Amino acid sequence: MEIEVLAPDVIDQIAAGEVLERPANLVKELIENSLDAGADEIEVEFDQGGRAVTVSDNGRGMTPENLQRAPLRHATSKIRLSQDLFRLSTFGFRGEALSSVAGVSELSIVSRPQGAEGYRLDGNFGQFAEPAAVSAKPGTEVRVRDLFANVPARLAFMKSESVEHTQIKNVLKAFALAREDVSIRARSKGELLFHWPKGVSFTERATQVLQTRFYQGQGELGSVRVEALVSSPQDTQAVNRNMWFFVQGRWVQDRSLNAAVLEAYRNLLMHGEFPSVVIRVRLAPEDVDVNVHPTKAQVKFREPQTVFRAVSRTIRSILEKAPWLGEGVAPDSGETLLNSEPVPTTEKFAAPEFDQLQYSHKVFPIAQVRESLASYKAGSTDTTAADTKPRFRWADLQVVGQVHLTYIVAQSAESLYLIDQHASHERVVFERLMASFRAGQMDIQNLLLPLVIDLPEADIQTLMREKNALEKIGLIVDRMGPQSLAVQAIPSLISENSVAEALKKAAYELGEHGGDGPAALERLIGDLFATMACHSVVRAGQPLSVEQMHQLLKQMDEFPLSSFCPHGRPVFTQKRFQEIEREFGRIN
Ligand SMILES: Nc1ncnc2c1ncn2[C@@H]1O[C@H](COP(=O)(O)OP(=O)(O)OP(=O)(O)O)[C@@H](O)[C@H]1O
Ligand SMILES: [Mg+2]
Repeated sequence: MEIEVLAPDVIDQIAAGEVLERPANLVKELIENSLDAGADEIEVEFDQGGRAVTVSDNGRGMTPENLQRAPLRHATSKIRLSQDLFRLSTFGFRGEALSSVAGVSELSIVSRPQGAEGYRLDGNFGQFAEPAAVSAKPGTEVRVRDLFANVPARLAFMKSESVEHTQIKNVLKAFALAREDVSIRARSKGELLFHWPKGVSFTERATQVLQTRFYQGQGELGSVRVEALVSSPQDTQAVNRNMWFFVQGRWVQDRSLNAAVLEAYRNLLMHGEFPSVVIRVRLAPEDVDVNVHPTKAQVKFREPQTVFRAVSRTIRSILEKAPWLGEGVAPDSGETLLNSEPVPTTEKFAAPEFDQLQYSHKVFPIAQVRESLASYKAGSTDTTAADTKPRFRWADLQVVGQVHLTYIVAQSAESLYLIDQHASHERVVFERLMASFRAGQMDIQNLLLPLVIDLPEADIQTLMREKNALEKIGLIVDRMGPQSLAVQAIPSLISENSVAEALKKAAYELGEHGGDGPAALERLIGDLFATMACHSVVRAGQPLSVEQMHQLLKQMDEFPLSSFCPHGRPVFTQKRFQEIEREFGRIN
């Protein structure tokens, strides 16, 4: 076969296939062009699964000469030199989006720069007429019809209208989350879907877009700046769908950012629970490459570890300060709550959570919800707000007794508390293990008689490979035989009978996910300590003296984040006396 250079229309279709995987990509490209043109008002209309899309903006518009060049391949006003790629301040840089669109649709662009005349350019699957003068408002309107009509293969890959519309809505939400300085209006089938006005705060915009209560914080590490909005660990999703990441203002999918979030929430969530987060990362342009993916959905960091740490620490610090921790009693403000949110009202005790003092459920401390909302309303989204009150101390509570051989009953001047003795002790032991591990000084006890554990041969081999790493977490093990292991020493904080299960778990995880040495074990440590803690502490059903209960409360003050057990279940529930008295009709 002879080698031939492909005809331009074939090249266009191939390129279109990369840039425009599906209609949602078209919407994304058009909005990016509007933002690059400096628009702060954007209107989007879409239908037929995104085969018909119109995007109009109040940006700087194009002269007729530029209008004619805009849909040419590799025609761009945004970069000139290859070095420009590493100091981009625009979304666009390839000069490919409009040419790709033009090749696979009926395209018409009306554009008018401020103080000049408007022109219109009509294209028909890659063929263009001369621009013609028209009356138009300043800005640009790009209208796409019959997308992919000449590419049956693409059409065949389109999903149902509602699936494609959902993808498009996600793109719109992403822009809304990235740019609260831009107002975005969207219609479909003649109906207004969204209107997000410009000029609100990041938190307000995110609350409007995702209907979630967020807590805000920021952090910095090296050149990496992070702005984060996170949901309470009690407010979770069963799917990993509400985690949004932006790098240099671009919406990206990134596994390490994802992992950084989950790392921060580690041990606050139960298995299969996901938080809602919006994370915006900015770093020096030379520290990130945005030109690594055809739809620009991924980026490459020069120092991924730094970004990971910056994100995870920022979130962690929000989580450690935020008001869902047991910081005690909120003043009863009696304010009306944000009406857009389904928040339980104390007046009516309408919250279903409130009727279920069950520990298998996450109980939302209502007083705290009210408080955080009140501070949210007051415009103070600063997480340090929680710091200004006198610090709540568990040890200050008065122990009343134990009920159901499981719960410690205690009171402060304002509230009644029920504390799960097992969950709280578990948390304490877990945090102590973590702290001594981080300090590199695990306190260990030698066992008089080694503890012999039988395991499949493969597991023994896996564990013996990690012998040194296990030692670091306080487990000294030797091989006894092909299928048994002798544990010589264990962390002093745990009891012997927790070790077998922890080792089995470690062997399984390391075997399953391929242990790449200490790093693999490191990932496991939280889990292992949680397992060990769980089996080493007071159980439900165990009677405790008042002194023991008081000790436990004192220990809970040693660490932040003491409000959940390491498996993510709550440690306590609380009810304000004011609410109790209301229930008894003593006050209204
Ligand atoms: N809404 C708009 N307002 C003003 N100018 C626009 C608009 N849309 C496109 N243009 C102009 O048309 C050019 C081509 O747009 P196109 O999207 O094809 O390429 P790009 O944005 O430069 O790069 P990329 O392919 O990476 O998106 C842009 O560089 C810009 O000058
Ligand atoms: Mg573009």
